[in-house]
Amino acid sequence: MFKPSVWLLFLSHIVSIYGFGFRGFHYENPRELEINNTSRHIITEKWILQPLNHFDIRDNRLWSMRYYENDEFYNGTGPILIMLGGEWAITRGFLRSGLMFDIGKTHGAMMYYTEHRYYGKSRPVSDTEPENLQFLNVDQALADIAYFIEKKKFELDKFNESVIVFGGSYSGNMAAWSRLKYPHLIQGALASSAPVHAKADFFEYYEVVSDSLRKYNEQCMKDVKSAIDTVELLLSHNDGAKVLQKSFNLCDTPNITSTSDIGWIMNSIAEIFASTVQYNSIESNGKSSIANLCHKMMNSNIGNPFQRLSIIIKNFKCIDWNYKNFVTEYSNTSWNLKQITMRLWIYQTCTEYGYYQTSSNINSTFGTLFPLEFFIQMCTDLYGNYYSALLLDASVKRTNVMYGGPLPDLNRVIFTNGNVDPWHALSIIEDTNGQTPVILINGSSHTADLYTDLPTDIEELTKARQRIRLIINEWITLGKKI
Ligand SMILES: *[C@@H]1O[C@H](CO)[C@@H](O)[C@H](O)[C@H]1NC(C)=O
Ligand SMILES: *[C@@H]1O[C@H](CO)[C@@H](O)[C@H](O)[C@H]1NC(C)=O
Ligand SMILES: *[C@@H]1O[C@H](CO)[C@@H](O)[C@H](O)[C@H]1NC(C)=O
Ligand SMILES: *[C@@H]1O[C@H](CO)[C@@H](O)[C@H](O)[C@H]1NC(C)=O
Ligand SMILES: *[C@@H]1O[C@H](CO)[C@@H](O)[C@H](O)[C@H]1NC(C)=O
Ligand SMILES: *[C@@H]1O[C@H](CO)[C@@H](O)[C@H](O)[C@H]1NC(C)=O
Ligand SMILES: *[C@@H]1O[C@H](CO)[C@@H](O)[C@H](O)[C@H]1NC(C)=O
Ligand SMILES: *[C@@H]1O[C@H](CO)[C@@H](O)[C@H](O)[C@H]1NC(C)=O
Repeated sequence: MFKPSVWLLFLSHIVSIYGFGFRGFHYENPRELEINNTSRHIITEKWILQPLNHFDIRDNRLWSMRYYENDEFYNGTGPILIMLGGEWAITRGFLRSGLMFDIGKTHGAMMYYTEHRYYGKSRPVSDTEPENLQFLNVDQALADIAYFIEKKKFELDKFNESVIVFGGSYSGNMAAWSRLKYPHLIQGALASSAPVHAKADFFEYYEVVSDSLRKYNEQCMKDVKSAIDTVELLLSHNDGAKVLQKSFNLCDTPNITSTSDIGWIMNSIAEIFASTVQYNSIESNGKSSIANLCHKMMNSNIGNPFQRLSIIIKNFKCIDWNYKNFVTEYSNTSWNLKQITMRLWIYQTCTEYGYYQTSSNINSTFGTLFPLEFFIQMCTDLYGNYYSALLLDASVKRTNVMYGGPLPDLNRVIFTNGNVDPWHALSIIEDTNGQTPVILINGSSHTADLYTDLPTDIEELTKARQRIRLIINEWITLGKKI
């Protein structure tokens, strides 16, 4: 979410070797601002019992869902604002600063941050065997939110206050869809960078990445393409594979007879560019992330484009880009698995969304070696031998039938997107019924509107937040009257 992509998850690997300081949204969190807030107010960690299976009343198993609460500004009359956790462990950040926090402070709101089942400490089952993953889906997660709201309204003895939900990326979908499914409980939603259109083969993603590089500098895109072409060529024969191992300091020689191994390597390289574009922001030297990366890729003092790419990738510690190791590691069904998020989120992509950022576009800057089949094979390898293109298609279709896909009929949902963010291709960027305000922020990236205004923010972004605040103010004032 953001890059609710499975693929940002993998950034964690890249981050460690690459030292960029970004975190894949989909990996840990939508990057919560690290503001050193000295406020003494305690944001409490709390738990609420939830049914394991909301859709079988005879199944009476329960589990504890975690949430955070900030009642600092609430004096018994304000609205209820909820930040919805997505595929990450929640932290207190969004209850200490950010767009929702700012709105809550103004309105004396009760604020919560809910954790999505299976992620973080919200563990409804004993392990992550495929059998136990069956309750990991958005239908159950939305029902968790409905029960949460019902319970809180009862506890606070407030049945007529507005409830506004906020989410970004995958949890942006949840914000929009919870309003769709439970309008009697939720009076408005902000869906930031929400890819509500499920799609198995999301080849458009790398088109946007390429376009963003091209827009920055045509030569940058060409140099990236040239480097990628060289890598593909090297991966076509054994001697080349050895050269590649040395150039990138890979721990193992790529197995060129394994399409998964090759796909894994090519995808990992493409990720470096994807993450830079998706989370493009101003870095400490005052330049954008794209500019800094392109500067390295276009530096003709350092050999040819492939050699420049090698310098970007290479690290003194060898890089484990071995597909088999990845599968072995993430087939582990223990909750103690490091980066358990990846095992969980990939499962959701296999069974609900696809979102696979493939190399299927023939004009892709990033080659052709990670097609949809690569991802379907990964689903099979991680969760058992019952995934196929047919099942993936049926899963994606189901999600779109249940929630409206690219044309949901909603009201009181704001869709925000940054046009630089590749995910906007699967979101709503046109108000089709006059009741879903749409804000496309020129020059902005993934879920950037969820944060507090910063002096370095572009004007379009602060204007967008201002508009969001006005709309939500109105919803809060109207309460449940519409
Ligand atoms: C917050 O505090 C930590 C530890 O004291 C420090 O390293 C960091 O630079 C501070 N961050 C900001 C934004 O002030
Ligand atoms: C609570 O706060 C609201 C808005 O800040 C204010 O209008 C109201 O009078 C306050 N109510 C109480 C009981 O303090
Ligand atoms: C720090 O937290 C306090 C209390 O929650 C809040 O009033 C203040 O606006 C916060 N500061 C920032 C910079 O977010
Ligand atoms: C909520 O509003 C309805 C209709 O305005 C009113 O009848 C009811 O008493 C209110 N409930 C509470 C708990 O304030
Ligand atoms: C390389 O991949 C092929 C095809 O997946 C496999 O049969 C072979 O055992 C692999 N070789 C090694 C050394 O892992
Ligand atoms: C799974 O991961 C846990 C925690 O890291 C570890 O203790 C366990 O040995 C692993 N199991 C297997 C089968 O690798
Ligand atoms: C690929 O690029 C060529 C030349 O620019 C263009 O004519 C063609 O429409 C593009 N194809 C796709 C699928 O984008
Ligand atoms: C978006 O921003 C770019 C660069 O600042 C500008 O050239 C372009 O005209 C803007 N587009 C729109 C639709 O405002």
